[in-house]
Amino acid sequence: MEICRTKAAIRDLIADWRSASDAPVVLVPTMGFLHEGHLSLMRLARARAGAEGRVVASIFVNPTQFGPGEDFDSYPRDEARDFDLLLGEGVDAVFAPAPGEVYDPQAQTIVETRELAKTLIGKLRPGHFRGVATIVTKLFNIIRPDTAVFGEKDYQQLAVIRTMARDLDMGIEIIGGPIQREADGLAMSSRNVRLTPEDRACASVLARALDQAEEMAPTGVTAARLRSHVRATLDAEPRARVQSVDIRDAVSLATISGPLTRPAVILLAVSFGSVFLIDNRVVHPESEAP
Ligand code: PAF
Repeated sequence: MEICRTKAAIRDLIADWRSASDAPVVLVPTMGFLHEGHLSLMRLARARAGAEGRVVASIFVNPTQFGPGEDFDSYPRDEARDFDLLLGEGVDAVFAPAPGEVYDPQAQTIVETRELAKTLIGKLRPGHFRGVATIVTKLFNIIRPDTAVFGEKDYQQLAVIRTMARDLDMGIEIIGGPIQREADGLAMSSRNVRLTPEDRACASVLARALDQAEEMAPTGVTAARLRSHVRATLDAEPRARVQSVDIRDAVSLATISGPLTRPAVILLAVSFGSVFLIDNRVVHPESEAP
């Protein structure tokens, strides 16, 4: 596995691959501190690349997607462990640049999916999706993959990236990988290690609320009723600080009123102490059972 610290090094490596073969290059962007959720994305990338293709992972804790007072400094990092895990998954190369390598202090350009960046998590974390769209565009331009793989846990992020790739004619296939969960249902996240043992024990309330919503969805329930049920389940957990509960059209993320008639996504953002967790579930009315 090649470890590239500079843009020039990863570009040269990929140019060598491209000159030797037409097989696809598949990118999995990450911020490191890898867990089983990331590794499942590496396997998806390998399956898409095929035996001849190449899988590249990037590890970069991107400062521009963290707001003032957010957890950029305390975001967990363990590069040596990440490299071992990626090696074990047969990843061909890792792009792990230093911060100074990625952003030019004179840079003038940002990428923003206008309305989509301002709604939902974008309201709670202003500027977050601008940081994500800009770094992902830069990674796409540096690595020029055929396909890129992202986790469905960051549902809105995936929507932002798909929209950006389509709007800007990037010509890169975007694939989403399913959420991986702990035994008690908690969605895997690099931030889970920052939960106190007490908060960790309660954090499965997100998955429980989503399980209940999934059961209710085919009963003709309205979006408002479903939302208040989910909210009540979360509010019943005193350690949880509910940041937002939203029910949106699963494809367009448009607001929904009245009974569900199409697949909807339930989007949760809940803090435990200083740890911000998100989760989501696509649910189906009876007429649209999967
Ligand atoms: O999902 C993440 O880990 C990050 O938001 C991403 C896509 C790697 C961009 O920094």
